[in-house]
Amino acid sequence: VTTRTPLMAGNWKMNLDHLQAIAFTQKLAWALKDAKHDFDDVEVAIFPPYTDLRSVQTLVDADKLSLSYGAQDVSAHDSGAYTGEISGAFLSALACRYVILGHSERRTLHAETDEVVGSKVKAALKHGLVPVICVGETSEDLEKFGASAVPVAQLKAALEGVEGTPDLVVAYEPVWAIGSGQAATPEQAQTVAKALRDALEELLGESVAAATRILYGGSVKSDNIAGFMREPDVDGALIGGASLKVDEFSAIARFRQ
Ligand code: G3P
Repeated sequence: VTTRTPLMAGNWKMNLDHLQAIAFTQKLAWALKDAKHDFDDVEVAIFPPYTDLRSVQTLVDADKLSLSYGAQDVSAHDSGAYTGEISGAFLSALACRYVILGHSERRTLHAETDEVVGSKVKAALKHGLVPVICVGETSEDLEKFGASAVPVAQLKAALEGVEGTPDLVVAYEPVWAIGSGQAATPEQAQTVAKALRDALEELLGESVAAATRILYGGSVKSDNIAGFMREPDVDGALIGGASLKVDEFSAIARFRQ
C-alpha cells in the first residue's frame, strides 16, 4: 500500500471531441462527488485531446471540481516555426497540471526516441508542468532482457540532464499489456516499480524517489485495480480504455471499497 497520494490518471488517447468531453467530464464530476467520502485522498486526473482542454478547464473552474487534467504530449520547443506542435507554455496557460510523455504509442507510431522524450521532459518542467513519463518493455524485450532493464534505461534517458527536485510522475506500461486485456500481475508491476524507484534515487536522490508517484498502466479495470494498489511501490494507475467509461473509471478511483 502506497504512502503517497494515489493518482488515477485517465488517458483518453484520440477519443471524445470537445462536446463529448463536456458531457463526459460533467458525468464524471457527479460520479466523483457522489462518492466523495470514499476517495477524498485520491487524485483523479484526465488527459483529453488538446482540442478539449479549454472546455475541461472551463468546467473545472466553474464548478470548482477537484479534478486534475493535462495533455497527452507537448512540443520540445517553446514557440516558433513548428507547424502542428503545441507549446508547454500554452498548456500552462490552460492550467494543465500534467503532461503525458513518451507513451509507447508515440514511441512506436511517431518514432519518438529516448532523446526526444528527454527534451520534452525538460520543456514540460520549464513550463511548470508535471511530466508523466511513460516507460515499458515489449514482449520481446521481456524475453530478452527481463522485466526491468528496458523501463529503467528509458527512465534514465528521459531524465538525462534533469537536476534538483523536480515534481514527476512515472508510469510503467508494459507494451504487451496495453489494450490487450492481459494486465501484468501486481507482483510484476511491483518489481518494476521498485526498480524505477531505485533508479530515481540513484539519479535524483532519496527525497525525489520517495515523493514520486509510480503508476502502473496496461489493461487496468475496476476488478484488478485493488491488487495493484496493495503493492508498496505502485501509487496509482494510467488507464486507457476503462477511463472512457464513467462508471468504470470512478469505480477504479474507489479502489479501496
Ligand atoms: O496510457 C494508458 C494506456 O496505454 C493503457 O491502456 O486501454 O490498456 O488501459 P489500456
